[in-house]
This record gives sequence, C-alpha cells and structure tokens, in this order.
Amino acid sequence: MTKTQSSGWGSRVGLILAMAGNAVGLGNFLRFPAQAIENGGGAFIIPYLVCFLLMGLPLLFVEWSMGRYGGKHGQHSTPFIFDAMGKAPYWKYFGVFGIFTNIAVAAFYCYLESWALSWAYYSVTGAFTGMSQEEVGAFFKNYIELGTNHPVVFWMICLFLNTWILSRGLSGGVEKVAKIGMPLLLAFGAVLAVTGITLQAEPGGAVNDGLVGLNYLWTPDFDSIWSFKVWVAAAGQIFFTLSLGMGSIHCYASYLNSKEDVALNAMSAGWMNEFVEVVLGSAVIIPISIGYLGIEAVTEMVSGGSGLGIGFAVLPKLFSGWGVFGIFAGVMWFGLLFFAGITSSLAMGTPVMGFLKDNFKIKESTGAWIFGSIILLLGIPCVLSPDAFNEYDYWAGTIALVIFAMIEIVLFAWVFGMDKGWREINTGADIKVPTIFKFIIQYVSPLFLIVVFIGAAPGIWENATKETSFYGWLARFLLIGLFVGVAMMVYIAKKRNNPQYAADEPFEKPNTLN
Ligand code: PHE
Repeated sequence: MTKTQSSGWGSRVGLILAMAGNAVGLGNFLRFPAQAIENGGGAFIIPYLVCFLLMGLPLLFVEWSMGRYGGKHGQHSTPFIFDAMGKAPYWKYFGVFGIFTNIAVAAFYCYLESWALSWAYYSVTGAFTGMSQEEVGAFFKNYIELGTNHPVVFWMICLFLNTWILSRGLSGGVEKVAKIGMPLLLAFGAVLAVTGITLQAEPGGAVNDGLVGLNYLWTPDFDSIWSFKVWVAAAGQIFFTLSLGMGSIHCYASYLNSKEDVALNAMSAGWMNEFVEVVLGSAVIIPISIGYLGIEAVTEMVSGGSGLGIGFAVLPKLFSGWGVFGIFAGVMWFGLLFFAGITSSLAMGTPVMGFLKDNFKIKESTGAWIFGSIILLLGIPCVLSPDAFNEYDYWAGTIALVIFAMIEIVLFAWVFGMDKGWREINTGADIKVPTIFKFIIQYVSPLFLIVVFIGAAPGIWENATKETSFYGWLARFLLIGLFVGVAMMVYIAKKRNNPQYAADEPFEKPNTLN
C-alpha cells in the first residue's frame, strides 16, 4: 500500500539535506577533532573508519528501513515502530529509548547551540578583538558560570527558534532550514578548511604550517588496533556523529513513501556526514590549534574529548590575530557551528512530535511547544552546572545510543528476520546494496556492538558509582524520571487501543481492567 504522507518531505534533495543536517552537527566540528587528538591522531583514524563500515553504514540501512516500515504502519516514533516489527509486548518499551535520548540530548545540545549563536554575535560585534588568551578564556569562563555575558538570553532565543521551526512542520520548517543552513555550512567549512590547511603560524618565531596537525591525524598508526580504549572512543564517535541509536533517523525516514528508496538515501546522507567530518571537521580546529600551540598543549586541552574549550576559548583568540579576516573567520566558524547544531536539534524534536500525534492526536505544532517546554525544564540543570551537563552527555549521548543500537539490530535481523529485513532495505532501492551487508547486519554488527558494550562496561560502572554534586544527582534523577514518564505514556497509548494494533493482543493477558 502506498500512502502519501500528508506531512512528508517536499523533495528528495530536501530530505537528503535534512538527513545530512541531522547527522552533521557539533559532533563533526568539535567532538571529532577532540576525540581524534585525544586518542593519538593517526591511531584513531583506522578504528574510526572500520567502525563506520562495519557498524555505521549497516545501522544506517537498518534505521532508515525501520523508519520507512513504521511510516507504512502509521507510526513515526520508535516505541510503536518496534511494536509493529516485534509483536511481543515488551519491544515497545525498548523503543522508549528513541524518545528519551532525543529529549535528554536536546536538553544539553540546545544549550551548546546557544553558545555558538552568541559567539557568532560577539564575533560580529568584535568583542574578542584585542583580547589576550587569558581574557578570552576568562570571558568563556564567565559565560558558562552565568556571569554578566547573558547566556540565558541566547539560550532562550535558541529554544524559541527550534520550537518555532519545528512547529512549522517538516517541509515547511525543518526542510527549509536544511536547504539554507547546509549549503552555508559547507561554504563556511570550505573557507575555514582551506585557511586551516594553508596556515602559516609563527608561535614564538618558529613557523608551523597547518600541515603539522593534519599529518598528526592522517599518519595511520597501525598499533592502535590493539588499543581497546581507542576502539570504544571511535565507536562512540561514529554513533554520535551519524545520529545512530537515537530514533531521529527512524522518524525522518518514516515520512517516506513505502516504495521510496532508502539504500541510496542512507548512503548519501551518511557519506555526506563523513565528508564533513573527516575532511572539513579535521581541517579547522586541528591544524589551527596545533599550528599555533603544538600537539602536546592541544592534547592537554581536549582531555575529556569535547573540544569545547578549543572551539570557544582558543580559536577566537587565534582568529583575532588575523586582522579583518579574523572577524569573518569568527562569524563563519560560529555561524557554521550554529547551523550544524540547529539542523541536528530539530531532528531531536520530530520523534517527540510524531509520538504525540500518532498516539495522542496532538497537533504537530502543539507537540513542538511541548517539546520546547520539556527541553527548557530539563536544560535548566545543565545551564546551572557542568555536572548535570556531563551526566546527560554520558548517559543519554553515549551509553543509551549503544544500548538502543544493540536492541534494534537484534530486533531487525533476528526477530523481524534478516530475510524480511533485507527485502525492506532493497525495496525501491536505487542502488544495489552489496550482499555482504546482509551478513554484516546479521552477524558482524551485533557482535561488534556487544564487544564495544563490554569494552565500555567498566567505564559505565565507574560513572554510575561516581560521586557527584547536587546538580549531578538532579540530572540522574531527571533522566530516570524522563525514561519512566515516556514508558508510562507508551503504556497509556497502548491501552487506548490503537485499533491497528488490536491484532497483537494475544500477547496480552485477558484484560480484566476494562
Ligand atoms: N549527529 C549530531 C552531531 O554530530 C548529534 C545528533 C545526535 C543529532 C542525535 C541528532 C540526533 O552533533
């Protein structure tokens, strides 16, 4: 049955740009370079590329086709997409992750996005001109510690923008922003990358060109394949950057028509993200910061793997040494980060809106405001303390992704069934997907995921038992509350007896409650 979705995508280019915009985010320009530097540059790149091929691409095929399958059954969020595929009553509760993670990640992500917006503003007004490195550092510190630089105003603007765009729907809001934001981002990224690569920095008289940093990244270190820590970091980056294990790809794909291609679309958006990450993302922060400051100093600065310090506290100072071009560089850099951020945070809102509409008949525009209000509330602890921020980032932005991906690939390849799954991937496909992927999806990726998860286990234990401040505890409490809250809504939605699921009822006990 081919059903035209009333709220679907306007065009294929729009869809691909929106999907690429979903994937291309702060992760490409801040997290990737920081992870690469922290994990030894060239040591990182081989595990990273292997993870992309054995885990990233296969999961893209899986998530896109799961999404389109859900759309065919009138579902646009993972609890009931899982329900449609898995039949047994518990699958929908695993699908809760696909709503929970989007909300929790959006809560801290939109706050970061607002930094980019305000830094773009400060770059335009020349706020950093003539500042010393200490002064830029102090400015940054003052900002995140809620000093006098009004972060709250920009955060509000950012939340409002996200909500407003979402309330205009997919083709009227999200797709339009992607069509404007993505080309601008690519153009800004290209200019900055060329600047980074051709850089001639003169720290203390010596001339370091931008190639020092690039060579550090692109000289492969084959010994790294024996370092488990590097593999776990590479896998984590692949998840985050491709927006895998979140439920947002499922949601975007659920607005496709049932015979529309997923194979080529998934490849295009995935490779576009990789281009932006490994070509553009590695050619800005790394060459510029290493060119001026050297590998050692930069490695120290990125410990923790976020790249925020370099992006916000170091680059503005380095730019300010470039005269008038430095002002443009600042505007382009923070503008790029803002566009990268907003096209991703929009993607986090859509599963929530889809869930509310499918199951509670709540209009999309109302759903957008509900989403905006929730991330405002959940964002408050993040704004008040980095401890809360770190809890969200770790539990939702790292661990939940891997857990969700393990579950969905088992559901797809083993419960739904690989033969049926393979058919889903190939229906309407505009390319021939190499048959080897059938084997990879069924055996290699699940095994890979399990190994990565086991590798991450000691860290999980350490983080779960780590002492934290009041805000850290508050964040943990809110995360649990959020998960339970969404699960309860799923329960209620099911009880309201969505007629098209009546066929699944044999799995439920005879109902004595009504
Ligand atoms: N992929 C985005 C990034 O690289 C993050 C993201 C995760 C976006 C999940 C949407 C959903 O920053």
